[in-house]
Amino acid sequence: MALVNEHFLKLQSNYLFSDIAKKVNAFKVTHPKQPLIRLGIGDVTRPLPPACIQAMHKAVDEMADMDTFHGYGPEQGYEFLIEAIIKHDFAPLGVSLSPSEIFVSDGAKSDTGNIGELLRWDNSMGVTDPVYPVYVDSNIMCGRSGVREPDGTWSNVTYLPCTAENHFIPSVPDHRVDLIYLCYPNNPTGTALTHEQLKVWVDYALKNDTLIVFDAAYEAYIREPDIPHSIYEIRGAKKVAIEIRSFSKTAGFTGVRCGYTVIPKEITAATLGGERIPLNPLWNRHQCTKFNGTSYITQRGAEAVYSPEGQRQVRETIDYYMENARIMRTELQNSGFDVYGGTNAPYLWLKAPEGMSSWKFFDHLLYNMNIVGTPGVGFGPSGEGYLRLTAFGRRDDCIEAMQRIRSHS
Ligand code: MLT
Repeated sequence: MALVNEHFLKLQSNYLFSDIAKKVNAFKVTHPKQPLIRLGIGDVTRPLPPACIQAMHKAVDEMADMDTFHGYGPEQGYEFLIEAIIKHDFAPLGVSLSPSEIFVSDGAKSDTGNIGELLRWDNSMGVTDPVYPVYVDSNIMCGRSGVREPDGTWSNVTYLPCTAENHFIPSVPDHRVDLIYLCYPNNPTGTALTHEQLKVWVDYALKNDTLIVFDAAYEAYIREPDIPHSIYEIRGAKKVAIEIRSFSKTAGFTGVRCGYTVIPKEITAATLGGERIPLNPLWNRHQCTKFNGTSYITQRGAEAVYSPEGQRQVRETIDYYMENARIMRTELQNSGFDVYGGTNAPYLWLKAPEGMSSWKFFDHLLYNMNIVGTPGVGFGPSGEGYLRLTAFGRRDDCIEAMQRIRSHS
């Protein structure tokens, strides 16, 4: 008899976005004629940059010829992409990385979910709250989160509240934790950390021997100066931080799937006996065993993001979404809402009307305005009373959604 991993039984039956999809599908069955506007899951709507399409077509043609065909690629990613990543994403920031510190993957979600496999199950962990649900859920799966408390929090997780009172900028824990997940620019609140604010975290990690998993999936949305694009811009970060990046939100790869993880050679974790073990070779071992590489066609598409046309096209797409964000923020404010984010991130964090819970607000938007958002409490206890809207919609949908909200205010 196979015994089940009982930690899975502790999870909510559905992943947040699957839960929302179920509710939306139920709504559609009962209201088939209502014109729905989806601003829930952070999925992009603009097509891929033409430079990526062209590169992928070329790669498909190569696959059709015996002389240029590609079978299994390197599990860590092709050199051409890794070199482009180092040259364009890090060198301009003054961050030097070697190719073996980059691992190309099928997206940030898999890497953020899997990275914990390198660490013992009984490390303590911290998350900013609210937070992308993958960080906590993936730790529940291996038992690291502890047990579920009556208020829905997890006994072995330190929650670092991000609230309007602290401008959604969390304080470092008042005790040491082994592992911390940070996502900046932030999903879901849309806030960003300045260089000084991020330095506080790196200093905490250096002082407390804490490993930071830094999710930089929304880095391309940074507009303001003094917001670091990589945690490695902070001195000492290479000793304590793993950084995860994505082409999904940068170049519209949500359906193509490509991202990468940076594990500097300096990063270590300890054995119980106190020996320091570098995590880079362990992740390499993990990927070689469990992953056969991102497809050649996809990686050629990702490489094209860094071509001059690719960079221009990506910038245009991001500008489009950020203009959506600007329109939405202005309209929501004009409708009397407290709204945060949308300046350095494609998410707007909206305070529900006084006394209304996140799920009630979600239902109100869905049933009365036919707009899909994401209830803030789905991201953690401090998200209660908030709702997230994405700026990844089509422009006319975003405008129409704001008109519907205004006419119900
Ligand atoms: C979100 O809506 O938070 C994201 O789309 C989820 C993801 O990137 O996996």
